[in-house]
Amino acid sequence: MNFKEEIIKLKEKLDVTIVAHFYQKDEVFEMGDIVGDSLELAKRAMASESKNIIFCGVGFMGESVKVMSPEKRVLMPKIACCAMAKMIDVEYFQENLKILNDAGLKNEDILPITYINSSAAVKAEVGKMGGYVCTSSNAFKIISKGLESGKKIFFVPDRCLGQNFANQMKLKSSVVGIDNIDDVMGSDIICYNGFCSVHQLFTVEDIEFYKEKYPDIIVAVHPECDVEIVNRADFVGSTSQLIKFITQEISPEQKVVVGTEYNMVNRLRPNNTYVLSSTKPECPTMNETTLEDLYNALKSIENGTYDNEIQVDEEVIKYAKIALTRMFEV
Ligand code: 13P
Ligand code: SF4
Repeated sequence: MNFKEEIIKLKEKLDVTIVAHFYQKDEVFEMGDIVGDSLELAKRAMASESKNIIFCGVGFMGESVKVMSPEKRVLMPKIACCAMAKMIDVEYFQENLKILNDAGLKNEDILPITYINSSAAVKAEVGKMGGYVCTSSNAFKIISKGLESGKKIFFVPDRCLGQNFANQMKLKSSVVGIDNIDDVMGSDIICYNGFCSVHQLFTVEDIEFYKEKYPDIIVAVHPECDVEIVNRADFVGSTSQLIKFITQEISPEQKVVVGTEYNMVNRLRPNNTYVLSSTKPECPTMNETTLEDLYNALKSIENGTYDNEIQVDEEVIKYAKIALTRMFEV
């Protein structure tokens, strides 16, 4: 069967919008009516007039649309989970708070901020405490807003993002479970010990290799990379910000080496673009979705079976929406 042709036919027939993140396989990405970074996808999928959304991405992305627009039916072609989002659940969130409470920091003096790469249940815990969601493209703004509260920021789950933005703001950061508790208590931004295994693949040796080979090369990376990588980079940004910088702000002759997911880097420019790794840094779960899965998701709308529909508990929606709305308001 020619899945591409069938998908195009079904799309025309059904009340559906296909949303695709930049890390999707090329053939799936091409089918997206809406493409973008996490923030753009959340905003534009919410605003879409379709009753049905098919989200080609990972679970937290589809969940965020469901939380903000519960009246929509959100389907995932594959139930794929972001490995980093899986590193924290409500229990771990509360355990970390308890460590801080035991060290003398009260909950009323803590403002939690969760990276959007987290479950709706974790976002709900953050919402209950008056905290915010942020993405890689608005973290600076959201953390700055959070600091106005005068409270300590508890940043979950990505320690790299938390530390990188703290450095950019010249603030002190630490990681619960890694740094000693006195350092943790003396920090402005206290990070949870989570990370993205894909963005951990980029090393200082990789940067040195490219800099030696092409002395004028630009290093552009995602803020989920380790601090030592981000500190050596010439440009740091979300997926959309990286794309804009590389395709619009530097000349086509300028060599650039990019530290983010392979599928996206591979389709950036025909020449002078390198992947900052000797491995192929693919996000395994983003790569799970195939054209056949997308076709099956559309068929399930046509048949009325609505396979892999995202369901979020009403109570979770209520509080997760508070944290997401606070982000959109900033
Ligand atoms: P963006 O918000 O930059 O698209 O990042 C999402 C992500 O999961 C990066 O690994
Ligand atoms: Fe999650 Fe990392 Fe994949 Fe992004 S690249 S979706 S953070 S596992």
